[in-house]
Amino acid sequence: MIIKDIKKAKEILDNDGIIGLPTETVYGLAGNGLNERTLSKIFAIKQRPFNNPLILHLKGKEEIDKVAMNIPDQARSLLDKFSPGPLTFLLEKKESVPDMVTAGKPTVAIRIPEHPVALELLNMLDYPLAAPSANPFGSISPTTAQHVYDYFGNELPAVLEGGACRKGLESTIVGFEKDTTIVYRLGAISIDQIEAVVGKVRLVNHNENAPEAPGMLSKHYSPETRFLLTFDLLDSIKENQSLNIGVLTMNPHFSNPLVKRVELLSGNFSLKEAASNLYAALHRLDKCELDLIIAEKFPDHGLGLAINDRLLRASK
Ligand code: TXA
Ligand code: MG
Repeated sequence: MIIKDIKKAKEILDNDGIIGLPTETVYGLAGNGLNERTLSKIFAIKQRPFNNPLILHLKGKEEIDKVAMNIPDQARSLLDKFSPGPLTFLLEKKESVPDMVTAGKPTVAIRIPEHPVALELLNMLDYPLAAPSANPFGSISPTTAQHVYDYFGNELPAVLEGGACRKGLESTIVGFEKDTTIVYRLGAISIDQIEAVVGKVRLVNHNENAPEAPGMLSKHYSPETRFLLTFDLLDSIKENQSLNIGVLTMNPHFSNPLVKRVELLSGNFSLKEAASNLYAALHRLDKCELDLIIAEKFPDHGLGLAINDRLLRASK
């Protein structure tokens, strides 16, 4: 059920239930982050392996000290600049955080979401919300309440309506080693924005199967339909012209008689707009009974890096 009543959402959460939670990045599958019974429900419904840790969503910076300690200076500067917002911090965990949240790691991932509905709800609760993206393991992340409902139906007691996600890409994940900031997952805050605050960062964007941040699994974010990321859109269309093809593009003038369905991600070459439309467009194309979805590689700067990262993983 998709609901608008925040009090009802609180009631479900207070009774160890889980809900679909709107955030500015993507919808989450949220539950009491300090309660192991609830946490196991999140892992079960998402079919997520227990070695893949969860992000704790907090209502404000003052909550950080309850779950983390020894916060490095760079983390404080980034928190000042980007929280609330789509930046997730890997910090040394406190005893109070269940091992199930962190998959036994010494760090806990925290983030303060910027979505008004998420913040209003968090402010009514006296515990943080653990929430992975609200998609079954490996599939496309949801950016509307309907996407979440389509995935889980009534297996999930409720999805809290919060409109379409403004950012449309998952949060960027940062961790810290000595004086270095490490980016573990590209996302809605670009590397340029982070480097403007803390100087040069290191990118550890893993592609193996046993990664440090398993969100980096090489196959991820995938539609059911075969998906191809290409440097040369026209060439790839020609090569596959016997198939029913759908295209993701940023080119408002794109038109091709061999293509059945086109999703224009931005009318004015805005990477921000393209990012916010990306997953919804993929969900739509995935429902069109196409044989192949083709996307052209995005420019390798700013948000284009994060978009390319997701498209590359979707194409494996
Ligand atoms: O935008 C987002 O971050 C969304 C919204 C709902 O907040 N959440 C999200 O969660 O994308 P999830 O679980 O789909 O991705 C979080 C990633 C996972 O790849 C997980 O492995 C990694 O964060 N992670 C969580 N805790 C970690 C830790 N202690 N150390 C390393 N990686 C961690
Ligand atoms: Mg995810």
